[in-house]
Amino acid sequence: MGDFFELTPRFAQERIGLGATLDRARFAAPRPFGDRILGDHRLRTVMEYSRSIIDIIRERTSRRSYAPRAVEAEKREAIERMFSVVQGPFGGRARFAILDTSGWGEGKINALGTYGTIQGATLFIVGMIERGEHDMEDFGCRFEKIILRATDLGLGTCWIGGIFNRTRFASRAGVRDNEVLPAISPLGYATERRSVADSVVRWSAGSRSRRPWADLFFERDFDRALEAGAAGRYAEPLEMLRLGPSASNRQPWRVVKEQGRDIFHLFLRRSRGYDKLIKAVDLQRLDMGIAMSHFELAASELGLEGGWRASPPRLAFVPERTEYVQSWIGG
Ligand SMILES: Cc1cc2nc3c(=O)[nH]c(=O)nc-3n(C[C@H](O)[C@H](O)[C@H](O)COP(=O)(O)O)c2cc1C
Repeated sequence: MGDFFELTPRFAQERIGLGATLDRARFAAPRPFGDRILGDHRLRTVMEYSRSIIDIIRERTSRRSYAPRAVEAEKREAIERMFSVVQGPFGGRARFAILDTSGWGEGKINALGTYGTIQGATLFIVGMIERGEHDMEDFGCRFEKIILRATDLGLGTCWIGGIFNRTRFASRAGVRDNEVLPAISPLGYATERRSVADSVVRWSAGSRSRRPWADLFFERDFDRALEAGAAGRYAEPLEMLRLGPSASNRQPWRVVKEQGRDIFHLFLRRSRGYDKLIKAVDLQRLDMGIAMSHFELAASELGLEGGWRASPPRLAFVPERTEYVQSWIGG
């Protein structure tokens, strides 16, 4: 295997402070560090990245045009490895694959059904999950962890949940009756310069900017903004959540922190009319899963223990179109 694997344990030791004895072979062996650490699938995921997940999150951006340069077999394998490592907070059953679309009608802009917004890509990561409660959040969380591994390896990606030939991808991926294919992503070396189509999509979605903290994060109730200082050690995980990708860059995540406690209640504030746009999947619930992945990965890297629970708070008021999703209970 390539040197990106060797890098991981050393990096993780420094970052997580597990001590000098940790190496990959030991990590895979049964319980050398006790249940608390090895039982933590989040830590195991963080270990897969070759460098700081916080740096990777800051680096990721959607790429829509690709150079004719093949992805090395080792990098492809590293991503495929990730398929079996990533977990979601709701324990859904998901499967992932890399599809090569090169025989799908080369040159025909609509072969992939993305109407030319994605150019030059032949490999696509696809994923499917069994239908069920919180299936979209679970999928969003896992797929984003895979996307971040691709970023780690210097590869370009772009969440595509809107317009693409879903039926064709689903049939090639062998999606079963009880499963749904929420999204795909091109995988490859992005061209140095963005294409015109990419720039237009970015401009229309306002992809470069994010809502300020005051719009997204609250303390005790929805009427009081959370100051970065009051977020304490969780300021960074919250910032990572804020930098996440979301469908049309709508950023539907809202967080209410309990005063004086490391408890964060996650809400989805639906954009008006957006749910009716794409009937097949609930894109904004995918966004929530992405937010959860960024938050928990950053927390794990910083050694902040905790987990997701259903523990809805009693609030004086909840804004319209706002739904409770889940709470992070810091340990
Ligand atoms: C669930 C989801 C679905 C998306 N669907 C599409 C899509 O169909 N087409 C597209 O060009 N971009 C799509 N995007 C990418 C977003 O437009 C992009 O993430 C957002 O504008 C922020 O830009 P950034 O990813 O470069 O930070 C999607 C993103 C998410 C999270």
